[in-house]
Amino acid sequence: MVKIRIPATSANMGAGFDSMGIALSLYNYVTAEENDSGKLEIDIIDDSAKFLPTDEENLIYRSMKRVFDLTGHKCPGLKLTLENNIMITRGLGSSSAGIVGGVVAANKLCGDKLSTDEMLRLAADIEGHPDNVTPALVGGFTVNVMTRHSVRYVKTELNPDELRFAALVPDFYLQTKKSREVLPKSVPHNDAVYNAGHSALLAASLITGKYENIRTAVGDKLHQNYRKRLIPNMDSLFRLCYQKGALGVYLSGAGPTIIAIVDGSDKKFACEISGILLSKMKDWKLYELRPDNIGACVIENQQNK
Ligand code: HSE
Repeated sequence: MVKIRIPATSANMGAGFDSMGIALSLYNYVTAEENDSGKLEIDIIDDSAKFLPTDEENLIYRSMKRVFDLTGHKCPGLKLTLENNIMITRGLGSSSAGIVGGVVAANKLCGDKLSTDEMLRLAADIEGHPDNVTPALVGGFTVNVMTRHSVRYVKTELNPDELRFAALVPDFYLQTKKSREVLPKSVPHNDAVYNAGHSALLAASLITGKYENIRTAVGDKLHQNYRKRLIPNMDSLFRLCYQKGALGVYLSGAGPTIIAIVDGSDKKFACEISGILLSKMKDWKLYELRPDNIGACVIENQQNK
C-alpha cells in the first residue's frame, strides 16, 4: 500500500501562459493497494464522487496504467482510495493532481523504475502542457517548457512566510477546453512581445524577491481578457483585491479561480475580502494558501510489511 499527497497548483500566473506554475498548500490524497482480486476498485471519499468515474475511465487509474504499461509491471488487482480536496474544474490543477498522483503511486508500486524526469514527461504528455504537472510533481514555483522529448524546467522555492496566495473560488465550473476555445488562433506581435517581457519580469522578480514588481509583472495580453466574459465579476474582483493591498492578481490557470498574491505580513487582506464576499458575492469563497515547496510525496509506504 502506498499513500501519496499531491498539492494544488496555479498555472499561468498572469503572463506565463502554459509555461509557469506554482504548487500551493491544498492537497489531494491517493492510496493505492495491489491485491489478487483481479478487479479494479475505486473509492472516492468526498463529494467529488458525484462527478468522477470509478471505473477504468478514472484519470488516476488511466495515469497509473500508463506507468504499468511503460514499465511492464503486472498488477493483478488494485484498490484506490481517493480523497480530493482540490476543487474540480476551477483552475487549481485538480486534473494535474490526479495525473501526478497516479503516476507517482504507480511508480512506487513498480519499485521506482521511472526517474522524476521520466514521470514528468509522462504526466505532461497525458495533460498536454506542463504548467500544472511540473509544480504538482516537484513543488515550488516552476518555469517549464515542453520539448519533443522532455520537460525542461527550473524550480524555485518561495518562502511561505513572505508570500500568500489567496484563492478566490466561485461555485461554478469552467472546463479548460471551453476556456481555451475563446482564445484567438493568433495574436498581434505587440501582445506577444508584451507577454514575453512580463513573464520574464515575473520569474526574475519572484526568484530574487523583488515583490514590488509583481503588480506590473502579472500583466497579460494572451488569455485573461479573452476569458473574462466566461467569468462574471472578474474585473471587479481584480479591482477589489488591488484596493485591499494585493501585490498582484491573476486568473488561475484557465479559471474561474482568481489568485491574489499577498504580502506574508498582511494580516487583513483575507479577512476583509472574505467578509465582502460573504455579504455581497456569496457564490465566491476565499481560501488562504501558501507556496508548497515539496510537491507530490509518499506519506505512507507499506509495500513490504
Ligand atoms: N495553461 C492552461 C490554460 C492551464 O491556461 O489553458 C489550464 O490547464
